[in-house]
Amino acid sequence: AFDVQLMRSGRTVRVGHAQTVAHALMSAGVDLQTSCEQGICGTCVTRVLAGIPDHRDSFLMPEEQAANDCFTPCCSRSLSPTLVLDL
Ligand code: FES
Repeated sequence: AFDVQLMRSGRTVRVGHAQTVAHALMSAGVDLQTSCEQGICGTCVTRVLAGIPDHRDSFLMPEEQAANDCFTPCCSRSLSPTLVLDL
C-alpha cells in the first residue's frame, strides 16, 4: 500500500493492494474522470508533483513515463511510499 497526497485539496488517500489509485480516489470523493481503466485511453492522466510512479499503462510514451511528471491512476501505482498529485 502507499499514500497519494493531493496537493490542491490538502488531503491524503491510502491506496490498498487490492484497489487502483483511481478507485481509492473516487471512493474518497475525488472527482476523477476515467474511461477504459486499462491504461489505454489517457482519460485519467494526472499530473505528478513528487514521488515515483510505477507506470503500467500503454498510453504514455516511454519518455513521458520516464519524466515521472504524470501517470495513469486507473492502472499505474507508486514505487515511492507517497505520490504527490496535482489534485
Ligand atoms: Fe483510460 Fe486511465 S482510464 S488510461
